[in-house]
Amino acid sequence: MLILGIETSCDETAVALIEGHKDHVILKSNVLATSLALHAKTGGIIPEQAAREQVKYILPVLKESLKKISDITDTFDTLKQVDAIAVTFGPGLIGSLLVGVETAKTLSFVLHKPIIPINHMVGHIYANFITENIKLKTKNQKSKLSPITYNLSPQINFPVLALVVSGGHTDLLLMKKHGNFQLLGGTRDDAAGEAFDKIGRMLGLSYPAGPEIERLAKEGNPKRFRFPRPLLYDDSYEFSFSGLKTAVLREITKGNPQSAILNPQTMKDIARAAQDSLIDVLVKKTLKAAQQYNVKSILLSGGVAANQTLREAFELNAKRLSLNAELFAPPKNLCTDNAAMIASAAYFNFHPVSWKDITADPELYFD
Ligand code: KG4
Ligand code: ZN
Repeated sequence: MLILGIETSCDETAVALIEGHKDHVILKSNVLATSLALHAKTGGIIPEQAAREQVKYILPVLKESLKKISDITDTFDTLKQVDAIAVTFGPGLIGSLLVGVETAKTLSFVLHKPIIPINHMVGHIYANFITENIKLKTKNQKSKLSPITYNLSPQINFPVLALVVSGGHTDLLLMKKHGNFQLLGGTRDDAAGEAFDKIGRMLGLSYPAGPEIERLAKEGNPKRFRFPRPLLYDDSYEFSFSGLKTAVLREITKGNPQSAILNPQTMKDIARAAQDSLIDVLVKKTLKAAQQYNVKSILLSGGVAANQTLREAFELNAKRLSLNAELFAPPKNLCTDNAAMIASAAYFNFHPVSWKDITADPELYFD
């Protein structure tokens, strides 16, 4: 079964093709255009601008994605081979979402193919079910997680605990089977990726700041600063990261509220302490839930899951606790937004609808 995935919920325009095989999916093509550089200039995303960029990129990205799987020069012929069209219908920016949804509706109408509406956050989780593709091999394959992550047939057993850590969400979910989501907890304020981005902004880094904070933190002194670990020891599986941001701001402006010019080593030390705090909370709360619910697999996903230090902290702590569960994380390029994860989610949750029955829902959450 060949599924075309479309993802346009925010600042990435992505189209992918996956082939479903019983318990896993193979990536046939994965194309992405991003307006990140534009948003880096403004220090964040301007929704109107993001939507306009989506309109500009969607058709070239679609064509490029189709070209990758076929020698046929007429991309329309390639499209006819597709069995279904999966599209993100929320959550996200309404203008951006509409570009993908309307494209999917048009294709569905013209080609007489069903649409499978996918929740973006569910998509992130299903990046874990995409099988290794030769082209996806990267140097991070040498990481400690790689033998599990890149296993040809991932063998993800249920019950599953899924941690989704992105720019907009920090959610911990229990899955007893495909399509079954029990929300154990989410963030009360900032999402983990948002905390990385806001702290980065205070440090004068460009958006999105997660990867740069990770880089700086590697050279930071772990002992110089210690920031709070919000809700670490409370009974819930909720998160809160806005206090961390305030603590970092206080440190940056200490004794000099007007100008917060930091020396390079102080920046690295702050990046290290902030990242340590975020990782500590994410890892400990997730592993506590894994023990409580006796899960067989833990799936990391979302842009923040691309953080190698976070992956290694998970592995180390899981070993320390002699956890029975296996840890999975997608290749880094499938942690951040992409359309392959949307098509993968559609394969495992095949609930087709007519093009008339789908509308974008910017506020969509887990139901
Ligand atoms: O999943 P994603 O691409 O988009 C959303 O659905 O939000 O996640 C983007 C977020 C940004 O906040 C970015 O700073 C963060 O993921 N991120 C990272 C890393 N790579 C991306 N955070 C920490 N370390 C990274 N290496
Ligand atoms: Zn995302």
